Amino acid sequence: MEGNLRVQLAGLTFSYPCMLASGVLGYSAETMQRVIEAGAGAVVSKSVGLKARDGYTNPTVFQAKNGLINAMGLPNPGIETYVKEIRHVKELICQPLIVSIFGYSAEDYAIVAEKAATAGADALELNVSCPHVKQTGAEIGQNPNVLSEVVKAVKAAVNIPVFVKLSPNVTDITLLANAAVNAGADALTAVNTLKAIAIDIETTKPVLSNIKGGLSGPAMKNIALRCVYDLKEKLPNTPIIGCGGVSNWQDAIEFFLAGANAIQIGTAIAYEGPEVFQTINLGIKKYLEKKQFRSIEEIVGLSHRR
Ligand code: SIN
Repeated sequence: MEGNLRVQLAGLTFSYPCMLASGVLGYSAETMQRVIEAGAGAVVSKSVGLKARDGYTNPTVFQAKNGLINAMGLPNPGIETYVKEIRHVKELICQPLIVSIFGYSAEDYAIVAEKAATAGADALELNVSCPHVKQTGAEIGQNPNVLSEVVKAVKAAVNIPVFVKLSPNVTDITLLANAAVNAGADALTAVNTLKAIAIDIETTKPVLSNIKGGLSGPAMKNIALRCVYDLKEKLPNTPIIGCGGVSNWQDAIEFFLAGANAIQIGTAIAYEGPEVFQTINLGIKKYLEKKQFRSIEEIVGLSHRR
């Protein structure tokens, strides 16, 4: 199956173009192994920070029309504990492991980054886009100066590729992307979830314990796609990983045509299980053959041609 599905990005080679998005099945080595066996080209871990966090109390997930709204609250065991899991994942899988990290300051990000890299991460994805946890995530990624400081600190701390996961909850995503790339980001992941709310008409109250959360899944696909398109237009030489509502091979092709070099899949796994990777890989392969393209690279950004 591999053949023309291989993609290269920021110095890494991926046998398949679809990666596991952060936050779904990315907690334990065994679940990540399962996803790789199902046809993912890489896995992105659940975001990990300097210290353990319990996350929010339930309810933390709501099934909306055509998507999920989640506010987990960045639960994680802290990097000191998580390094054992990173080492274990590296024993089990031979595809790249991308560790998603977050912090409350540039220094926090740099410390977590260094520990994850030393434990064996192949790349890092900076979560500067969680839409609802205070003093981190989007509060960092919506400010170009703070974002730039964080990226510079991480780049100075590690020698592995650094991806920056951008927020769609901004007026002009390309301004933030520019700041990240000028500070040394090796690739951009576009995008994290859209800030959203659900209200229960019986109780008359918001459904989630945190009140607001992030919308993912098909409901946001065309917004994520527009973000990728904008980024490709403004930063044509920066690798982009498309993320947001990809649930079938047609969605994946749309993201490549918009400018993504690879894609991430998250919510679709909740609906269809890890088998969705194999189905999407097969669909992409058949499309390339039918259209007589030799590789995914040949179609990246094609929709920009006039
Ligand atoms: C969460 O843990 O609440 C979600 C994290 C994110 O959206 O980045």
